[in-house]
Amino acid sequence: MNILLLGSGGREHAIAWKLAQSPKLKKLFIAPGNPGTASVGTNLNLNILDFEAVKRAVIANAIDLVFVGPEEPLVKGIHDSFLSDQRVKQIPVIGPKKEGAQLEGSKDFAKAFMIRHSIPTAAYKCFVSGQNREAKQFLTQLKPPYVLKADGLAAGKGVVISEDINEANITIDEFFDGKFGEASKKIVIEEFLKGIELSVFVLTDGKSYVILPEAKDYKRIGDGDTGLNTGGMGAVSPVPFADKDFLQKVEDRVIIPTIKGLLKDGIDYKGIIFIGLMNDNGNPFVIEYNVRMGDPETEVVIPRIENDLVELLDLTGKGKLSECKISISDQVATTVILVSGGYPDVYEKGKVITGLNEIEEVIAFHAGTKLVDGSIVTAGGRVLALTCISHSADESLLKSYKAASIIGYEGKYYRTDIGKDLKQYI
Ligand code: AMP
Ligand code: GLY
Repeated sequence: MNILLLGSGGREHAIAWKLAQSPKLKKLFIAPGNPGTASVGTNLNLNILDFEAVKRAVIANAIDLVFVGPEEPLVKGIHDSFLSDQRVKQIPVIGPKKEGAQLEGSKDFAKAFMIRHSIPTAAYKCFVSGQNREAKQFLTQLKPPYVLKADGLAAGKGVVISEDINEANITIDEFFDGKFGEASKKIVIEEFLKGIELSVFVLTDGKSYVILPEAKDYKRIGDGDTGLNTGGMGAVSPVPFADKDFLQKVEDRVIIPTIKGLLKDGIDYKGIIFIGLMNDNGNPFVIEYNVRMGDPETEVVIPRIENDLVELLDLTGKGKLSECKISISDQVATTVILVSGGYPDVYEKGKVITGLNEIEEVIAFHAGTKLVDGSIVTAGGRVLALTCISHSADESLLKSYKAASIIGYEGKYYRTDIGKDLKQYI
C-alpha cells in the first residue's frame, strides 16, 4: 500500500516509523513531515489545510490510504471533502468526518454527547457570548476551583482553571470578548474533577474497536508539575495506576458507550478516539475527547503496539477491524521531550543540534526540527522526543535521560522528573 500521513510533529514521526516497518507498505509519504519523517519516508511540502493540494498529492502518488495526524484538518472537514470528490472518494481516510470531529472541535458537543449516552463526566453548563451575567451567576453555585473552557479549538490554551471567582469572572468576559475568536464565543463551565489523569486511545471502524496502550502525559513546563502548560513534556506507558480493574471500567463505562453512542447518533467514525480521563479513586471520568493521537503520548504508545500498523489502518478503512486482535508489549516505554529555552513563552529557533548519532537504545523522534545546510537545527518549542522501550520504567527512563544529556543545542531544556510520580504505584 502507498500511504499518506498528514502532520509534522513527534507524533507523526512515531507513526511514520511504525508504518515503515510493515511489509505491507510500498511507499510512505508524509505531508509536510520533518527531518525525522524524511528518514523513513518521503516528505511532501504542502499545506494540509489546503484539501485540494492534499487530493492532488493523493492522485499524483497513487495513495491507497490517508492517515490524518492532527485534529485541525478533521475538524475542518478533510474526510468529508474526500467523500464528496469523485476522484478520491474511494480512498479511505483514517480520521472522523466533520460531525464526529466535533467530539474535539466543540466541548459543548462532546459534553452533550457524554450526558446523552450516560458516560461519566463532570457536570456542566454551556453559555454563549452575551450571557456573561448568567455564566457568572452559575459560578456562584459551584465550589472552587472553577473550570472554564472555550468551546472550540484554541491551540491547547482554551481551558482556564481558577481558584478565585473574580479571576474566573474576568476569564468569562475575556472569552466572550473573543480571546480565541469564535472558539470562545461559547464556553463550557464545569465541575472540577479530582484524581489523577491518564490518556486512553481507541482505534475504531465505527462498529468494532481495539484499545491501544494507555499513557500518562506531563503537561507543565516545570518539575513537580509546576509552571505553564505545554504541549507535553514527556510520557510513560503503561500507567501503573491503571490496573486491569480500572481499565475494565474504562472499557465498560466509557469506550463501549462511546462507540454505541456514535452508532446510535448515526455518526460514522473511522479513526482514533483519544479519551482524556480522570481516575478518581478507581473510577474513570472523561475530561475530554480528542479525535487524534496525543503528542507526546504517541511516542510511547506506538512502540508498544506489536501489530502491523498498516494492517490495522487498512482494516479500519475497510470496516473490518473485528478481524484483528490487538497485541501489546508488556515492556515500558518512556519519552523525554527536549524543548527550546523559553518555551512555552517566546523562544529562539535555528540552534544546531548535536549528538543525534551518539545516542544508544533510544529513538529520537523529531518534533520541531529542520534541515538547514546539512545540519539539523531547532525549529519549534518541542524539539525532540527521546523514547526508550525496555523491561522496566527505571531502565527506560535512565536511557531516555542519558540521551537527553548527550544531545546538545543552545538553550536545551527538559523536565527531570518524568515518570517519578508513578514509582509509588509499582
Ligand atoms: P482539556 O483541554 O479539556 O484537556 O483540559 C486541559 C487540562 O485541564 C486537562 O488535561 C486537565 O488537567 C484539566 N481539566 C480539564 N477539565 C477539568 C475538570 N473538569 N476538572 C479538573 N481538571 C480539568
Ligand atoms: N498531549 C496531549 C495532547 O496531545 O493533546
